[in-house]
Amino acid sequence: MMTKAKPATEIDWNNLGFNYMDLPYRFIAHYENGKWNKGDLTQDSTLHINEGSTALHYGQADFEGLKAYRTKDDHIQLFRPDMNAKRMHNSCERLLMPAFPEDQFINAVKEVVKANADYVPPYGTGGTLYLRPLMIGVGGNIGVHPASEYIFTIFAMPVGAYYKGGLKPTNFTTSYYDRAAPHGTGQSKVGGNYGGSLLPGDEAHKAGFSDVIYLDPATHTKIEEAGSANFFGITKDDTFVTPKSPSILPSITKFSALWIAEHRLGLKAEQGDVFINDLDRFKEAGAMGTAAVISPIGGIEYQDQLHVFYSETEVAPLTRKLYDELTGIQFGDVEAPEGWIQRV
Ligand code: PLP
Ligand code: COI
Repeated sequence: MMTKAKPATEIDWNNLGFNYMDLPYRFIAHYENGKWNKGDLTQDSTLHINEGSTALHYGQADFEGLKAYRTKDDHIQLFRPDMNAKRMHNSCERLLMPAFPEDQFINAVKEVVKANADYVPPYGTGGTLYLRPLMIGVGGNIGVHPASEYIFTIFAMPVGAYYKGGLKPTNFTTSYYDRAAPHGTGQSKVGGNYGGSLLPGDEAHKAGFSDVIYLDPATHTKIEEAGSANFFGITKDDTFVTPKSPSILPSITKFSALWIAEHRLGLKAEQGDVFINDLDRFKEAGAMGTAAVISPIGGIEYQDQLHVFYSETEVAPLTRKLYDELTGIQFGDVEAPEGWIQRV
């Protein structure tokens, strides 16, 4: 049994890290007989599922990650939740799961935030309420076929920095292992991608790195992405570059950063090849994602050499500007492009 989260009034908002917490409420909906029920909030954080559930045996499971932000004037808002709803729809199609309707997904996210509103960290602490929508195939099955029953749930917890450095640069390493196959499930947010990343991730952590930078699975010459975030580099002539590949996760933070780089930072912005033996073209680099936000990369280890970009200890100037602009939009301090923010 999980212990319930302590009362919000006792939480140290400035030292949250990225850890599970059993908050009072989550949303749960069931798919049976070819349709989703409308779903409801529940206080029960334990899922009761059959031993033959496809999610357990065959990885028929996908998820999302998004955050709720408390603003200076004390309301709560979401950052581009429509993009998460859409990406989950795509992940569901890849695993032959019935997508939860996108408008209902957004409403359910808002319900979970409202029900746990005390746990949305105060403005100014840098903390946010992380939301984890999850879908799993359930019911008695044993053949390798899609389930006929599903559970969709959204739970939440307050979080701080994902990589232990936060805005301090940390080092990343390449790996012998791949995260995704060329025509596999890399572009979908499915559990199996992360199961396969545990071993390389663990090796990287034990060697003192924040995360793995995976190379393209076909040739191992180009950067794909980190285990939990997309990669960006900023070239010496001011182009924001992020890898283009069919086997990386289409990061919502990435699409937002491409826009910010071009329209707010005055950089050129492009998706293209990032060759691992051509890192000298970059003066800055980082990892970006919902959990990672904008995390500066000090250096990347490749073939026993550490390539340092700007500094292993100091945040590079454009990376800091990108961080300030993105988080400014997310927390409501900076004007957001049309449609990026939804109030809870
Ligand atoms: N890449 C991977 C493998 C991830 O797990 C994530 C996290 O969601 C991202 C990239 C970043 O995506 P997003 O910016 O949509 O959170
Ligand atoms: C996210 O950024 O939402 C992620 O899913 C990354 C990781 C925690 C899996």
